[in-house]
Amino acid sequence: MIRLIGLNLILLLVWFYIPQKVEIENIKPILSEPMLAIGSIDPDSQLVVDEGYIQVKQHCQSCHSMALVTQNYFSREVWLEKIRWMQAEQNLADLGESEKPILDYLAKHYNQNHKPGGKSISGRRRNLDPEWYKLD
Ligand code: HEC
Repeated sequence: MIRLIGLNLILLLVWFYIPQKVEIENIKPILSEPMLAIGSIDPDSQLVVDEGYIQVKQHCQSCHSMALVTQNYFSREVWLEKIRWMQAEQNLADLGESEKPILDYLAKHYNQNHKPGGKSISGRRRNLDPEWYKLD
């Protein structure tokens, strides 16, 4: 009788232990992936967190620092030129379906009129917009 109670107790302990373990394992991947608020700066890459920044991290980090991205402010056309130049000269792969979200992201956050968070991360000045006048 006492043995039977002992066995039941062990079974009960095992039963309690297993579901708990599974729960902890389920939570892990969520905890290891930091949840970053949109508009904040990703501490890993210094990119502004927004739609498309994951694709930028996936496609643009392997050859050079992300500082090359975050310190530049280009129009969408110039970003595309830079990508085409890297593809022609620097072995950058075809970006496939990621090209549009990457361009959307770069043109939104790293365009020539915008500096993320209102902070100036050492970068290029805005293009000059001189008032041209006719030479006599
Ligand atoms: C296969 C390698 C490679 C990958 C991947 C790559 N680049 Fe580059 N990129 C380069 C090289 C090489 C340079 C020239 C670096 C230098 O001048 O020191 C460069 C330069 C740049 C520059 C500076 C251009 C200029 O005219 O000042 C920017 C901006 C840039 N990359 C953005 C990106 C973005 C955005 C991505 C992702 C779409 C990316 N890079 C992915 C190789 C790469």
